[in-house]
Amino acid sequence: MERSSGTPASFRDLWAEIAPIGRDPASGGYLRYAFTEPELALRDWFRAQAARRDMTVTDDGNGNLFAWSGDPWPPDTVLTGSHFDSVPHGGGYDGPLGIVSAFLAVDRLPRDAAAKVGVVAFAEEEGGRFGVPCLGSRLFTGVIAPDRAAELRDAAGVGFAEALGARPAGARPDLLGRVAAVVELHIEQGRNLDVPVGVASAIWPHGRWRFDFTGDADHAGTTRMADRRDPMLTFAYTVLATNKEARLSGAHATMARVTVHPNATNAIPSLVRGWLDARAADAATLDALVEAVTKRAVDRAGRDGTGVRVEPESVSPEVAFDARLAERLAGALGGVPILPTGAGHDAGVLSGHVPTAMLFVRNPTGVSHSPAEHATDADCAAGVDALAFVLGTLT
Ligand code: GLV
Ligand code: MN
Ligand code: MN
Repeated sequence: MERSSGTPASFRDLWAEIAPIGRDPASGGYLRYAFTEPELALRDWFRAQAARRDMTVTDDGNGNLFAWSGDPWPPDTVLTGSHFDSVPHGGGYDGPLGIVSAFLAVDRLPRDAAAKVGVVAFAEEEGGRFGVPCLGSRLFTGVIAPDRAAELRDAAGVGFAEALGARPAGARPDLLGRVAAVVELHIEQGRNLDVPVGVASAIWPHGRWRFDFTGDADHAGTTRMADRRDPMLTFAYTVLATNKEARLSGAHATMARVTVHPNATNAIPSLVRGWLDARAADAATLDALVEAVTKRAVDRAGRDGTGVRVEPESVSPEVAFDARLAERLAGALGGVPILPTGAGHDAGVLSGHVPTAMLFVRNPTGVSHSPAEHATDADCAAGVDALAFVLGTLT
């Protein structure tokens, strides 16, 4: 296993340790929201893995954890890792695969190379609890202000600062300035990779917009159809318009989260709140798509006698990963494919600041953000081999 015991750990051994944590027996998916009990258990597991390897664990005051074989934050640090948190009933590979692979890859490195590597677990990558994805890496790099992050609230009203146990530290140029490169290994999340490992070229620009549809609460049994101001109708139309506009523009757009007030079978709602997730290959297409959906929602609200207000909650620009680095790594790995993705990643946030690369592990069905997400042990082991090789070339 780890250098201290002399027995190499296998992917299967480590995977089996975390597989039950936060798994919902009914859906088979994971409920690993940032700083909730299962995610805290995974953080304990991270510390235990570090301890088994005589690694030191540090944090950056933003909820991100780092493990070091030598002194923390050496000059020309190479960071590798991912995130533990999941979407509601998500798959087990999205995030944790990158952290498990990072420990296993560090095990393979000679001591001086391992001393250059920091294994990282970023906080709240999915935005599943506080709404803003990649919150830990955005804080670390200064992309989001700590005051704004501190005030984000979960569904129960708990603030991010409360969950973290402190006001977030925000940008850490003192630490980021020591980083020479970042490599995040991640399961591929479409049907785009037909060999065990690939390298990322780009992340589509994407974002989340909150749509508040307002109307008049009233009795479902007594209010004449002609007298209603029902925001559910405007919402329903907007869901269909989202799908149509995305198809027309060759983009991806989804309304998959909704809250209704008062959410009663026999009352017309006063508020329907829906979240638009929109992604496109380029910023112009994304902007046009969001504008088109917004226009359709506003036009329809005019016909329904309802109101609509649109609030961007997080917008991530297009990421083009360091092309020379991607080509170098793909070549060194034997000419593996270089491919873009529509999924967001902490590596995308880091890429605005330091040379960054991603390795993708094949996903045989392409399914992700679902209990059905899967990768084979053989492909995961190939991912560890590739990551160890890449880290070896970067250290
Ligand atoms: C993160 O997984 C995202 O792309 O939503
Ligand atoms: Mn995800
Ligand atoms: Mn992920």
